[in-house]
Amino acid sequence: MVKSLETPPVELLKPGVKAPVQETLLTPRFYTTDFDAVAKIDISAHEEEIRAIVEELKADYNRHHFVRDDEFKQSWDQIQGEKRLAFIDFLERSCTSEFSGFLLFKELSRRIKDSNPLLSEAFDYLARDEARHAGFLNKSMADFNLSLDLSYLTKNRTYTFFPLEWVIYTVYLSEKIGYWRYILVYRHMEKNPDFQFYPLFRKFESWCQDENRHGDFFKALLRSQPQLWNNWKARLWVRFFLLTVFATHTMTVFERANFYEILGVHPRKYNNQVIEETNKTAARAFPIILNTNHPYFFWYLEQCAINNQKIIELNNSKRGLIVKFFKKIPLMKNIVWYMLKLYLIKPINTEKTRQAVC
Ligand SMILES: [Fe+2]
Ligand SMILES: [Fe+2]
Repeated sequence: MVKSLETPPVELLKPGVKAPVQETLLTPRFYTTDFDAVAKIDISAHEEEIRAIVEELKADYNRHHFVRDDEFKQSWDQIQGEKRLAFIDFLERSCTSEFSGFLLFKELSRRIKDSNPLLSEAFDYLARDEARHAGFLNKSMADFNLSLDLSYLTKNRTYTFFPLEWVIYTVYLSEKIGYWRYILVYRHMEKNPDFQFYPLFRKFESWCQDENRHGDFFKALLRSQPQLWNNWKARLWVRFFLLTVFATHTMTVFERANFYEILGVHPRKYNNQVIEETNKTAARAFPIILNTNHPYFFWYLEQCAINNQKIIELNNSKRGLIVKFFKKIPLMKNIVWYMLKLYLIKPINTEKTRQAVC
């Protein structure tokens, strides 16, 4: 069994409004980018494909999906203790990351309205979907007598600047990993309905199709920019982003192993499957993918997660700041060391096989 950390009790900003979790490297972040560079993107090489995806987004297949049907209208007081805290934590993290997507897409759409109308329209549809996702999760939090103050979050979170190229790589990956995270939980719940303790999971099948379409849009955008995949620098960046997304996922799943166990999901198997599937999917967009079949691949990732858990335990301990600082150094060094070992595992070239898998 994977050892997870205790879920902290709920802190309130004001009555009924949950205080956002402290920002760390692993909490969902808010992003901003170089909007002038986005305005100048030339998509002519893949314009037909992008127009087709925009038409799909416009069709809005999920416009009637995010409805709180009768199943939601009941008291959820029977969910108590560790289960309640772990579920609220899941809702909060998911809501924050969906809302982060909404803010970025909305701003992108607004800033390039006149200069790049087709992309502006696409980002507007993406923002529409993410707003729905975040809103639906926030309403689920209200079932537990809590909510997130999204306008407070908008004003008070730190915004991280990412150059446009990084935004394209990371948003593509986060949409595709989001797809696999949702669909694997959905399939598990379909086979094991006893674990379906709240109706949100039933919504995941159509929900994850939104994420899939968002990922496809970013794939087309990425492929329309040859400098993002046809040279050695791009291959090094792709390798880096695949690795950081997979390492972050592993650390988050291991840190919250109790939540996955509550769902009846084996955290290690779930993590490995999400990573393997996302990596395979990424072969459609990226010039290389990681070799998840390497005998040490998942073992190295787990070493990162174990060292991360020790850092969290240390942070939560009553030791003094200076002791914490010095005890953290070897743990951080270990994470960097295992990440480096992972980075050096020979990747798989996908350019030759892409046509076959598309
Ligand atoms: Fe979403
Ligand atoms: Fe999305």
